[in-house]
Amino acid sequence: MKKDKGNNQAEGTISDGVIALKNLTKEFGDNVVLDNISLAIEKGKTTVIIGPSGCGKTVLIKHLIVLLRPSAGEVYFEKRRIDNLSESELNKIRTHYGFLFQGGALFDSLSVAENIMFPIKQHYRITDHSGVEELVKTKLAMVGLDGFQKFYPASLSGGQRKRVALARAIALNPDVILYDEPTTGLDPIRADIINELILKLQKGLGLTSVVVTHDMTSAYKIADRIIMLHNGKIIADGNAEHIRNHPHPTVQQFINGQVSEDDLAVLRMSGSIPQAQFLPRDFEE
Ligand SMILES: Nc1ncnc2c1ncn2[C@@H]1O[C@H](COP(=O)(O)OP(=O)(O)OP(=O)(O)O)[C@@H](O)[C@H]1O
Ligand SMILES: [Mg+2]
Repeated sequence: MKKDKGNNQAEGTISDGVIALKNLTKEFGDNVVLDNISLAIEKGKTTVIIGPSGCGKTVLIKHLIVLLRPSAGEVYFEKRRIDNLSESELNKIRTHYGFLFQGGALFDSLSVAENIMFPIKQHYRITDHSGVEELVKTKLAMVGLDGFQKFYPASLSGGQRKRVALARAIALNPDVILYDEPTTGLDPIRADIINELILKLQKGLGLTSVVVTHDMTSAYKIADRIIMLHNGKIIADGNAEHIRNHPHPTVQQFINGQVSEDDLAVLRMSGSIPQAQFLPRDFEE
């Protein structure tokens, strides 16, 4: 069996990643979400983070861009320590990142074009308006939505909204793009369009990608490396084949979508479900 790399990397290797977490712990009160994690994100590769709901995937990805600060440990970008920087210094570092938030939140009151311009306006004073229009057009064309500039998010489908959010995430020509659940809520075909876009951006622009997902079809398709989080630790780390054949029962249960004995015990304890809980409105849209 190939050794899991995650928590056992030597210090030298950790510092070599484009982004590195070193002995990172994050607690919210008594809740230890990430427990002494060390991880180096490899340049130009797609690293996928999997794990059950609530295991800390979003918390981890937010540390990569220091939207959350560690309780202990360090974060590095291009070998520079960044977790201790001021917000204004961090904002400069963040121009190297694109971030597709969970839910792909667009600003509903802004048009598609204004949504894509938003990060540009946040970081730069725009004088060349036609240049920005051209840039919006290029970014929309990359996600197959040129022509949708004047649309508002409410008139787009879920898949189109994700693609606009992706166009916005690449507006500043990032080196690194972080995706939090990019395919959740999409049908398999729309989800696969997002997978293809992630691959296209990684291969075409040489982007380093970190993708949080529950979707194993997506993970196997796009990942150079898959990391599984469980109880605050990395319990599996390797390529798709390594994860598929992983001996850890928790990994097998997760990738095969099987409920664990612990989850079943919780369900058994909660007793029977009263009929009255199923009212017709539960089945309405
Ligand atoms: N700002 C916060 N304050 C307190 N607790 C938080 C905060 N953010 C996250 N948590 C807690 O950290 C844990 C991990 O949350 P996180 O959102 O990272 O899970 P996740 O793996 O992304 O789950 P999902 O797959 O459902 O998105 C949860 O127990 C959550 O309640
Ligand atoms: Mg999450």
